[in-house]
Amino acid sequence: MYNSMKRSSWYENTVFYEIYVPSFCDGNGDGTGDLKGVISRIPYLRRLGISGIWLTPFYPSPRVDNGYDISDYRDVDPAFGTLADFDMLLQKAHQAGIRVILDMVLNHTSDHHPWFRESRSSAHSPYRDYYLWEKEIPCNWESFFDGNAWEYDDTAGMYYYHAFSKKQVCLNWSCLQVRRECAEILRFWLDRGVDGFRLDVINFLKTDRSAFGFDNPVENGVMRHIYDKNQKGIYDAIKEISNVVHAYPGKYLLGEIGEDDLYLIKSYVGEGLLDSAFQFNLGSMEKLDVAYVAEQLRRMEAEGVYPTLFFSSHDMRRHFNRLCGKDLVKAELLAVFLLTAKGIPFLYQGEEIPMEDLPVESPRDLRDIQGRYGYEKKLAEGEGEEAAFLYARERSRDYARGMVDWEREKYEDSLVCAYRKLLDIRKSHLSLCMGEYGEIRQQGGLLYYQRIWEKEKIGVYLCFGEGSLTVPYTDVLYEVKDEKGRIRGILRYEQESSWCGAYSLEPSSSE
Ligand code: NOJ
Repeated sequence: MYNSMKRSSWYENTVFYEIYVPSFCDGNGDGTGDLKGVISRIPYLRRLGISGIWLTPFYPSPRVDNGYDISDYRDVDPAFGTLADFDMLLQKAHQAGIRVILDMVLNHTSDHHPWFRESRSSAHSPYRDYYLWEKEIPCNWESFFDGNAWEYDDTAGMYYYHAFSKKQVCLNWSCLQVRRECAEILRFWLDRGVDGFRLDVINFLKTDRSAFGFDNPVENGVMRHIYDKNQKGIYDAIKEISNVVHAYPGKYLLGEIGEDDLYLIKSYVGEGLLDSAFQFNLGSMEKLDVAYVAEQLRRMEAEGVYPTLFFSSHDMRRHFNRLCGKDLVKAELLAVFLLTAKGIPFLYQGEEIPMEDLPVESPRDLRDIQGRYGYEKKLAEGEGEEAAFLYARERSRDYARGMVDWEREKYEDSLVCAYRKLLDIRKSHLSLCMGEYGEIRQQGGLLYYQRIWEKEKIGVYLCFGEGSLTVPYTDVLYEVKDEKGRIRGILRYEQESSWCGAYSLEPSSSE
């Protein structure tokens, strides 16, 4: 069922779709997402034209961080279904030509995990060394969710380290047995037939206890996380994971590297390491800045990066709000970009219909642990409720986590047809999957690039500003028009000339 190999590896040719399981689709009527709900949407996803799914955690968990706090790595949380449902999902997805990668959280476990219960119970427990215990707080490290990263445990009479909430306890990756256990967990899912993994915050693994000897610098009250990630030994740990996964032919290993530095991100990708990493340098930009986009495309080219392309995920505001200001034309232009620029697109559930950010208007709306922590921290520091809420709202990741409203698919302003058509064009044009860039140009709100594969040359003209395009209207594969009928985006076969030759792109004087 899979498309024929175009680039050398299937994943380089795949358009992935992130499914945040708790809010994607409710299959049993209890108001939250589950695996049966995912199964029921496979025909939709197939029709949309994506060819890979990234499933966020569905394992048993107290769900303090919506599943990123796993208490059993080899099962399905009853709220989401059963292992039989998972097997069915995998089978149905594969039959539809859709590959499935799982989110795997190897940096930390839930404090409810039996390993942690055992570990805290006695200094002589064989599990004691699975986590990072210290008699005294050794350094000033803060959690990425706010507050001290060291928590005192009464039972153990010691402090343990947690990079996220205190209920997400970091594993000790210098412990050989931890590494063996994690390898077995990966094999468990590979044996069931999954196509790969998205490794959660994988550069945060604690591979070097000697780093506890160093305080992180604090600038203007903000901690710079220097010693608590990218530790000595991290590449060896990732190599081990890679060996386990790649012993199964054709599996894909994608890493979440919590960094903006392209050079550092790239250092984790390559033979024997990860197959790819998320490029937050582009994906998480705060506002639509076309010059910045062009600059990042050029930088990624210069670094030889084959990027992942995304603008939304469960951890950030939806780009329909954040980058487009709910402007449908801009959303369509960004869809063209995601599906025609060089890289592996990761669409986020519902961006195609297009879902909007969930409103977060009062402390009651703060469900995400990061938002709630922030709120409590500020109140404890003596801030008023309003100030605490404003602080917490900025940190909360509730916005993009609302239940997908599938009724929106039928709305007049749904973008779904545009996504379908673009995915279709992508499939039948090798240059859009495996082509190199020709020119990359930007002028004000205008972005232009060419994708070239053998004799096929496609030009992509995207006008994010107020102007419109005056490009010879021939050989057009796709166009984006605004409500006034002006052409704002074009995908066309290019002949000899290009942007600075025969075509003129005329922004309005306000550009
Ligand atoms: C990254 C995940 O995307 C995020 O949702 C989670 O809170 C942290 N890792 C901790 O697991």
